[in-house]
Amino acid sequence: MNILIKNIRQLLQVRDTPVQKVSGREMKNLPVIENAYLYIENNTIADYGKMEDLPETKANEIINAAGKVVMPAWCDSHTHIVYAGNREQEFVDRINGLSYEEIANRGGGILNSAKKLEETPEDDLYRQSAKRLEEVIAMGTGAIEIKSGYGLSTDAELKMLRVIRRLQTNYDIPIKATFLGAHAIPANYRNDRKGYIDLLINEMIPAIAEKGLAEYVDVFCEKGYFTTEETERILEAGKAFGLVPKIHVNQFHAIGGIQTGIKHNALSVDHLEVMRDEDIEALKGSKTMPVALPSCSYFLSIPYTPARKMIDAGLPLALATDYNPGSTPSGNMNFVVATACIKMKITPEEAINAATVNGAYAMGLSDTHGSITRGKEANLIITRDIPGYAFLPYAFGNNHIDTVLIRGKVVTP
Ligand code: NIG
Ligand code: FE
Repeated sequence: MNILIKNIRQLLQVRDTPVQKVSGREMKNLPVIENAYLYIENNTIADYGKMEDLPETKANEIINAAGKVVMPAWCDSHTHIVYAGNREQEFVDRINGLSYEEIANRGGGILNSAKKLEETPEDDLYRQSAKRLEEVIAMGTGAIEIKSGYGLSTDAELKMLRVIRRLQTNYDIPIKATFLGAHAIPANYRNDRKGYIDLLINEMIPAIAEKGLAEYVDVFCEKGYFTTEETERILEAGKAFGLVPKIHVNQFHAIGGIQTGIKHNALSVDHLEVMRDEDIEALKGSKTMPVALPSCSYFLSIPYTPARKMIDAGLPLALATDYNPGSTPSGNMNFVVATACIKMKITPEEAINAATVNGAYAMGLSDTHGSITRGKEANLIITRDIPGYAFLPYAFGNNHIDTVLIRGKVVTP
């Protein structure tokens, strides 16, 4: 199937030569073609340009995008969408005054989700997760990373990763799998954290690597979860089996996790709500992508990642949802982009770069996703009739998406 999209008001993120990532001042540059066409051959972007230069094509279908914006689909590099049930009671408890930390200390939080996951049959877990995946695709996500980490036993972690594998098989969007066995110390190891870490290293990582079920290894490096020393041990073990680090750091406390991530060539360090000057300094010149998760800050009422300061210091930035049942029960990248603009004071151009090109980088997909480039996969958003791309974050909370295409196929009406 060949599709010609014509009369596009603005075609965003056009990169003839693909970039790996954009940093600092470059982030303000969002390359746009006004009054454009885009031609898709089978699954990939074949051609684009100004309407006045439209060549003859072999299109079987023509989409008239007059008044609309066309852009690469969102690249959501940090999610936990494989989970069982929900935790709306904890949400109500927080409204009534308990903190996220207090809830976790009472056996709620991650351990609550681990219990629910344990009790949920694998097929049921798959169905719940597939529904979430379909929801986020309909909201414009065209590439996603999914973590394990609500299993916390070898069997349950493998169960989560098998569900991710099934999603990879059954859906056309790229899905990157991350092993997050080090998400919390499970209840049965409360008095033996070393025992759990040994289990992670000696049993879980080898089993997962042997089955090829994950590409990345993650650790929740945070007070009350895993120390930097423990994080190092786990990352080293993962790396020995070819897993690349992508880690949770600086959510509530700055304990040196960023430095640990950089030392181990982490592809990304995520959360970063609490950033010291030395953390920003450490990221300069590294290959590690800092990832901000503004919906998490919004939902938990915690500080926002100091994105303005980080970009002004020359760093790149990616934006992701963190979709999970505890800290971010939302997978809406449109809301993430709007919230980044509104609360972090980054411009629409910076936010869109962060949620496309840099998101792709944070999941190793820079060569195939995240920009309008000949030969890249045709995972695209066509908006409704809007005056221009700044309207997307400006009119926050409204649905601006008309059509989503994945590998050149329309997946939403
Ligand atoms: O990224 N911070 C650690 N993990 C998740 C939340 C986990 C949960 O509350 O279920 C996060 O925010
Ligand atoms: Fe997370």
